[in-house]
Amino acid sequence: MTDIDSVKETEVVYRRLVDELQQHNHRYYVLDNPSIPDAEYDRMMRDLDALESRYAHWVDADSPSQRVGGSALAEFDQVAHTQPMLSLDNAFDAQELQEFGRRVSERLADNYSIDYVCEPKLDGVAISLLYEDGVLKRAATRGDGAVGEDITENARTIRSIPLRLQHHSPPKVLEVRGEVYLPRDGFKQFNTAAIACGGKTFVNPRNAAAGSLRQLDPKITAARPLQMCAYGVGQIDTQSQPETHLEMLHYLGRLGFLINPNIHLAANIDDCENYYGNLAARRDSLPYDIDGIVYKVNDLEFQRRLGTVRRSPRWAIARKFPAQEEMTKLLAVEFQVGRTGAITPVARLQPIFVGGVTVSNATLHNADEIARLDVRVGDTVIVRRAGDVIPQIANVIFEKRLLGAVAVQFPDCCPVCYSPLQQLVGKAVTRCTGGMLCSAQIKQAIKHYASRRAMDIDGLGDRLVEQLVDTKCILSIIDLYKLNIAQLLPLDRMGQKSAANLVAAIETSKLTSLGKFLFALGIREVGEGCAQTLAASFGSLEALLKASPDELLEIDGIGPIVARHIGNFFANPEALEIVTALCEMGVTWPVVVLGEQVAQPLRGETWVLTGSLQIMSRAEAKDALLGLGAKVAGSVSAKTTQLVAGPGAGSKLRKAENLGIPAMDEQQFIDFLQVQRNR
Ligand code: IVH
Repeated sequence: MTDIDSVKETEVVYRRLVDELQQHNHRYYVLDNPSIPDAEYDRMMRDLDALESRYAHWVDADSPSQRVGGSALAEFDQVAHTQPMLSLDNAFDAQELQEFGRRVSERLADNYSIDYVCEPKLDGVAISLLYEDGVLKRAATRGDGAVGEDITENARTIRSIPLRLQHHSPPKVLEVRGEVYLPRDGFKQFNTAAIACGGKTFVNPRNAAAGSLRQLDPKITAARPLQMCAYGVGQIDTQSQPETHLEMLHYLGRLGFLINPNIHLAANIDDCENYYGNLAARRDSLPYDIDGIVYKVNDLEFQRRLGTVRRSPRWAIARKFPAQEEMTKLLAVEFQVGRTGAITPVARLQPIFVGGVTVSNATLHNADEIARLDVRVGDTVIVRRAGDVIPQIANVIFEKRLLGAVAVQFPDCCPVCYSPLQQLVGKAVTRCTGGMLCSAQIKQAIKHYASRRAMDIDGLGDRLVEQLVDTKCILSIIDLYKLNIAQLLPLDRMGQKSAANLVAAIETSKLTSLGKFLFALGIREVGEGCAQTLAASFGSLEALLKASPDELLEIDGIGPIVARHIGNFFANPEALEIVTALCEMGVTWPVVVLGEQVAQPLRGETWVLTGSLQIMSRAEAKDALLGLGAKVAGSVSAKTTQLVAGPGAGSKLRKAENLGIPAMDEQQFIDFLQVQRNR
């Protein structure tokens, strides 16, 4: 064999590697269904790099190595769209949607049955992608609809945009249109990282997507987890073309584009309206922001006949959801003290309907956030409530600031007990140093101690705890066990019977488990699951008290931060005194048999939570699983034992189904936990 032959063979190997990597990219970024482990993919990429550094002249623009972002531009070139990029008319209620349907029928002027494709309206930025002979040649923003900007280098870094179409005979020319967006997870991660390094944060995922796509340096775009979902075609030059919009979308899917899995074919306008209700209910649990639904006449011939008016097609309409951002006024800022003394500024707002609920409070997190927003009392602010996330102040409208707007003063002592505040270097939280001398902290500590999953004291609700502390009936957890009926009777809505019941419930709750007791103590970062793990690993309180930091770290699921908090808690003489007193007053638990399997029945299992949970919070669900010994993973793989899928579960549920992994809904999960806890 000659040298030339061997180079030829290597080139065949190289081309095959390029093809295989393209397939894996598609499976990973578009189908969300990888078939090889990440490590194997990395190894293949390294092989590719090695070949490309040796034979640089083989490298085409569509090689998987060409997605990292080339050199920065001085400015974007202008691009004239061959077909204008239109915008959509809006329908704001059911009646306007009906009117749209009527207009369509009237214009087509026949008794056709007209079906519509219903698509989620992704809240991102429109993009146009031009392919020639199957290869991505140019990507452009919408601009004013006639002229946009050439963002090809940035688009190349988005993994769900194919660099080469997956077809043996792709169209000569194909212009695909779609939306570039940043999934909520990516948005949150970006802002958290930006805050940590003092960088600029984005107000919402849409602004983040727009800002990321219009970076002159493609390396910056490459670092943002943007996605692209195709929803239409501008220009297509091929022999046989699909006849309906839905077929066109399926065709784009086969070419390698990401197509939204929630697309629905409606037989008539009433069916479109049903889809609206259905998607609106799932809006919060989708992994990306949507601001409505786009309805499109399915038949492409009908679309052509309907044509456009001004800058909108007559064959499509957007039905908008209630806004997730609204403007309102900041009336005041109050400071709340949490269980661990953390001081949280809370914005009191002029009530405003946003994201489907009336919001009158929003968290301001901490002093850094107040400074970052530069918010003042009296300001007009934008409130954002997306998903089940607590409402936030997204930004201040400075143009509307009035002369009298008052700067927010962070208190210099605890607003409840007046103890000094402490802010550790490098930490955003400010804490009250009053500990159990601070009535706000005592109230929170007792509420937590008495709660269902801790000591489970029946009848000791939040309002009662507040009264007991305010009237100085109890000054610490220990006093709970000294309460008598006579002390309780003067309290609001407290009769002889309820007082007697409460005293009895406190007595009954003394018999608990070591795990519940450790959880009830409210040690920072020690959730229910962590407390169960500690109980199962050490078996007794004495053994835990004696544990060295290294012994704590040896336990699966306990990291250095949790270990430090546990160490600090038991090193505090006051805390130890309370623990000892509680045991002396009769708090007790059955002996834990070390290594006993019942304590951790899910040991060795890996669970995945997906979709939205309505009854439990995600943190609670995760913690409960950890407590039973399971690992909780973020993605489904062959190693997954069980999936818990709430409403809105999407790709993870499908993947689990494909892999034959069992799934349960939230109610089944709660029933399951109940059974496990009663074992
Ligand atoms: S169709 C002529 N479909 O909404 C039809 N648009 O004004 C043009 N959008 O900025 C758009 N999801 O980027 C269509 N499934 C979808 C969409 C969608 C989001 C955006 C689009 C444009 C705006 C419409």
